[in-house]
Amino acid sequence: MLVSATEMLKKAKAGHYAVGQFNINNLEWTKSILLTAQELNSPVILGVSEGAGKYMGGYHAVVGMVNGLLQDLNITVPVALHLDHGSFEGCYKCIEAGFSSIMFDGSHYAIDENVAKTTELVKAAHDKGLSIEAEVGSIGGEEDGVVGMGECADPDECKAIADLGIDFLAAGIGNIHGKYPENWQGLSFETLDAVQQKTGDMPLVLHGGTGIPADMIKKAINLGVAKINVNTECQLAFAAATRKYVEEGRDLQGKGFDPRKLLAPGAEAIKATVKEKMELFGSVGQA
Ligand code: 13P
Repeated sequence: MLVSATEMLKKAKAGHYAVGQFNINNLEWTKSILLTAQELNSPVILGVSEGAGKYMGGYHAVVGMVNGLLQDLNITVPVALHLDHGSFEGCYKCIEAGFSSIMFDGSHYAIDENVAKTTELVKAAHDKGLSIEAEVGSIGGEEDGVVGMGECADPDECKAIADLGIDFLAAGIGNIHGKYPENWQGLSFETLDAVQQKTGDMPLVLHGGTGIPADMIKKAINLGVAKINVNTECQLAFAAATRKYVEEGRDLQGKGFDPRKLLAPGAEAIKATVKEKMELFGSVGQA
């Protein structure tokens, strides 16, 4: 059964580790992530962007697929199904469809509007038992056509949003989605430290987990990050493994064109990536 992400992230913050949010795109992705979490006895958050939700057919299809896999694969570790960077309307759709967690990304609104919309959604989410993440300071890079510059959040604005009753907070600290450019300045630990001091026990979320060096990840966890989002890295691993399979001509041998064979190396590559991240984040054995 799906659970909200509140308890697993409170536990993670108190225990100085982070739970991975891995974004899903299809059945193979979801199965690989769930099986790895179960094997490693780790809690896990399945992230669904609005674009990925649409791609998979819609939010009800996603909920049906995930709930079916939890049952059929006997997944017993805590799993949350979380809307990633939700719009105001998207949040309501996911609450209705049976998600267990939502993120409202109001970072592009003026702070007063972000506060007003987040306040309304906190009530709507909590009334149905879902957890809710909010964002201050837009995360850089491009995700589903939404381009952000990688701002550093204002710690006072973080406090204002944290006080609305949200369950975890994404604060921009110079992180970006996708691959980091050569001239990237690194994470702003000064900002993270200031945000944590203002927001206390609130679990903090680090978006753009792909390509952040291990030492920075560990330092971020020490400064209160309890949830780390990874998307691009699984996509790159899946694409590289699939490319290798095709370039080796294996799709042309026997029944190598069967999707169950064609997509298998990519699915295994996702498992390996998720395992590596769970080990780095310290969530192994924490279910
Ligand atoms: P990456 O694609 O950079 O791993 O970022 C994922 C993310 O933050 C999803 O919200």
